Amino acid sequence: MHRRHALAAICSGAALPLLPGCAASGSAPTATAPAAAPAGRVLRAGVHTTAAAGQAQLPVWAYDGQTPGPVLRLRRGEVLDLALHNALPDPTTIHWHGVRVPNAMDGVPHLTQPPVAPGETFRYRFALPDAGTYWYHPHWGTPEQVERGLAGALVVEDDAPPPVDRDEVWLLDDWRLDGHGRIAEDFYGFHDVSHAGRLGQRLTVNGQVEPTLALQAGQRLRLRLVNAANARIFALELAGLPAWLIARDGMPAEEAVAWDGPLLLGPGMRADLIVDAAQAGRFTLRDRFGRGERVLAHVTVDGTPPGGAARPAPRPATHDPLPAPALADALAQPLVFGGGMMGMGGWPDDPLTERAARKQRRLGGSREADPVWSVNGHAHMGRHDAHPPLFRVPRGRTVRLQMANRTAWWHPIHVHGHHVKLLSRNGQALSVQPWRDTVLLSPRDTAEVAFVADNPGRWLVHCHVLEHHAGGMGAMFEVT
Ligand code: C2O
Ligand code: CU
Repeated sequence: MHRRHALAAICSGAALPLLPGCAASGSAPTATAPAAAPAGRVLRAGVHTTAAAGQAQLPVWAYDGQTPGPVLRLRRGEVLDLALHNALPDPTTIHWHGVRVPNAMDGVPHLTQPPVAPGETFRYRFALPDAGTYWYHPHWGTPEQVERGLAGALVVEDDAPPPVDRDEVWLLDDWRLDGHGRIAEDFYGFHDVSHAGRLGQRLTVNGQVEPTLALQAGQRLRLRLVNAANARIFALELAGLPAWLIARDGMPAEEAVAWDGPLLLGPGMRADLIVDAAQAGRFTLRDRFGRGERVLAHVTVDGTPPGGAARPAPRPATHDPLPAPALADALAQPLVFGGGMMGMGGWPDDPLTERAARKQRRLGGSREADPVWSVNGHAHMGRHDAHPPLFRVPRGRTVRLQMANRTAWWHPIHVHGHHVKLLSRNGQALSVQPWRDTVLLSPRDTAEVAFVADNPGRWLVHCHVLEHHAGGMGAMFEVT
């Protein structure tokens, strides 16, 4: 029974769109291995007890028994070929956050694939079009599954990366533990959903409390930061060592920018930094978002730095340019974010009543939240395929998303399947217009982004505060 389902998933959902001639997209690369070949690797999502979040024995949900999951490292252009085996008591999927995947590989239950039921296997297979720092996480019951430990980094290496001595991933997270030191099971709580999302009291880097990274004097480090927290926004500082920002959300910056102030990293966002171990000592990564400050991790530098001048600033990686948006001819689409507590937009004026939404969310991935957030007045609740697209755009056309945050809260807005160019904030054109897959809006912020809709399929755009998405802050668009 399970085996039949597994084969059906491999032969219909996963593999076919990747066969040569089946994929119709220029930006959705094709794989060439025969569909029947076994997947290159199995990744098992299961229930485990492990040392994490400062607890010796923490019951978690984990990939291959570890939280965060294994760092998947591949090269640009390589085919990621992986069979997700679901040993959880719950359906699941994997979303490859930030990767320009073919639509059938995007991991959104019901919209791009069937949910992977307990005992089943689903094969993900696609070529990696861009180098950079990405991550993977479930897109079913996301607030619960990510909080229980299902998240990992995906590093796509460049052909000619900036030269470094060390290359490390720091996946940042926070955990809400209950009085017994276990993960508190109050997922989808109304207060969390309608306010800032689920914040945890225990901060970790790669699942550990205040880990230390040891460097030798003179070494150059590439540090890949991933914010895998459900809701926490970090404002990061690492004082005392020369450091530069070379990429955001996987996409290289045009030039390296000195990291000398708080670096804002909302949920889902990544930053690649270069840090020079220019002097001996102990240095601390701190978060200063909001009130107070919190220690995340340490870097120690041993030895005597080689004499001579400081190393020159690094150069960012090169990358093939993404298609340039054609602004004059673009489809302009407002995205108005409303709802939440404290007024500002009120409740969704939504055709779904509260009761209908409750029924729907029992059937879909956001089963427990109340509909308190909206995009253009509509709460995106329940099954992802239960809603018409917010807009449709023919493939190849440029879209300008005019985002307006009419709420009193921060929202990291994530666009699936594409990178977007950040054009302006609060009506001010930006002199450097960076690529992002997640755009952090502060309260009452507006921002305009543009992208060429070159990846056919149905894609989500949603707040990456996972409780906000579960509470309705999402929409779907279709590239035809
Ligand atoms: Cu990282 Cu739709 O999510
Ligand atoms: Cu939000």
